[in-house]
Amino acid sequence: MIAMWKPYCWKFSILCLSIVALVASAKNDGNPANEVVDCINKNRTTNKLPKLYNSPGLGCMALQYISECMGNCSTNNTLSCQPPEVDITEVYAPNCGVELPTVGTISGHLVGCQWKHLNPEQAFSKVLISDKKRLSLLHSKDHTEVGVGFSRAHHGPFFWCILFSSGKTNSTFVLEGGRGIKQRNGCFSGKDLPCSSGRKLPFPSDLKPVVFSMLLHLIVGI
Ligand SMILES: *[C@@H]1O[C@H](CO)[C@@H](O)[C@H](O)[C@H]1NC(C)=O
Ligand SMILES: *[C@@H]1O[C@H](CO)[C@@H](O)[C@H](O)[C@H]1NC(C)=O
Ligand SMILES: *[C@@H]1O[C@H](CO)[C@@H](O)[C@H](O)[C@H]1NC(C)=O
Ligand SMILES: *[C@@H]1O[C@H](CO)[C@@H](O)[C@H](O)[C@H]1NC(C)=O
Repeated sequence: MIAMWKPYCWKFSILCLSIVALVASAKNDGNPANEVVDCINKNRTTNKLPKLYNSPGLGCMALQYISECMGNCSTNNTLSCQPPEVDITEVYAPNCGVELPTVGTISGHLVGCQWKHLNPEQAFSKVLISDKKRLSLLHSKDHTEVGVGFSRAHHGPFFWCILFSSGKTNSTFVLEGGRGIKQRNGCFSGKDLPCSSGRKLPFPSDLKPVVFSMLLHLIVGI
């Protein structure tokens, strides 16, 4: 009786473990750009400021902004990157599929880079809101909406960008057809899309198929 029961017990434990691993990896699969928006809004609300609307159009433009900064992260994690302002309408909006007449005023931006991988909370406090000047920009009463982009240079540093806007939240940065143009690398806030570009972002989601096939094997095996 016991001898028969034992292998099942063992298999059952592995089954449980794999389910836990699968759930955990699914959780890590989230969008780090959206997590930064959560940090932004948490910090604003604890300081009695209104939450900012998480705009996908603006988020995509923040990701586009980063693409111009890829070569400019120094070894000491300082980023010198000043793309021309006209790029907002001439490059970012068309590349994202943001309807041009709906491009609103950018009321502030914050960018940063880091050679080491940081989680969104660390990126928020250590890279993006790293001093008082940046904190006061975060707390500006002008902002009504926000967009965050996150990407990594090939085998290189990680880049973060926050764009703030003072535009009307439901009529600015409108994406063509509601979806805009799909971005190939990195991720942006406002949508529930995970980070694209398998090769660039080292996320545990890579493990998911492995765990899943293990699970399947076990279920079929039992
Ligand atoms: C970081 O590096 C840049 C360029 O390499 C340099 O100009 C800057 O002074 C450095 N900053 C610090 C804090 O070391
Ligand atoms: C990146 O750095 C180079 C060299 O310092 C500079 O010429 C260029 O304008 C920078 N790029 C941006 C987008 O600021
Ligand atoms: C959030 O806001 C407080 C001010 O209430 C500030 O001191 C703190 O540094 C902010 N948090 C982060 C992670 O920047
Ligand atoms: C935008 O929001 C306002 C107030 O929430 C609403 O009255 C208006 O109809 C909305 N416009 C669109 C295009 O959704």
